[in-house]
Amino acid sequence: MFFSSKLSKAVFSGLAGTLALAGATTIQAQEISRAQVIATTCYTCHGTYGVSPGSIPSINDISAERMESILQGYRSGQRVSTVMGRHASGYTDEEVKEVAQYFGNVQKRGK
Ligand code: HEC
Repeated sequence: MFFSSKLSKAVFSGLAGTLALAGATTIQAQEISRAQVIATTCYTCHGTYGVSPGSIPSINDISAERMESILQGYRSGQRVSTVMGRHASGYTDEEVKEVAQYFGNVQKRGK
């Protein structure tokens, strides 16, 4: 009796640990925002965190306000581009705002 209760306690604490781990994983997954997913598509051309390794301009030191206005310029065609107009026109106003804010924060974090 003593043995079995000790065993079930051990099994239970092991299970609780597993559940806590699963919980933490879920929370981490939720922290990936839509803006982060969109920004990842930008990194394909502009380099990781917007630091470009090639001839495409770096976009890592642009404020959120300026980024939003540049992207809106590309969307409307006011700003001349080869690819950015096509790319930016695929996003809604809300998505443009979110990704611009995301880039503003990436810059503050120094990445
Ligand atoms: C297919 C490659 C490609 C992707 C993907 C892309 N860009 Fe661009 N981006 C360019 C190119 C090329 C330019 C130069 C303007 C042009 O010719 O379109 C540019 C220009 C820019 C500029 C202006 C930089 C400057 O100094 O003038 C900003 C800001 C920008 N992109 C932001 C973004 C953001 C934000 C994303 C993601 C939502 C993104 N780009 C995705 C290729 C890309």
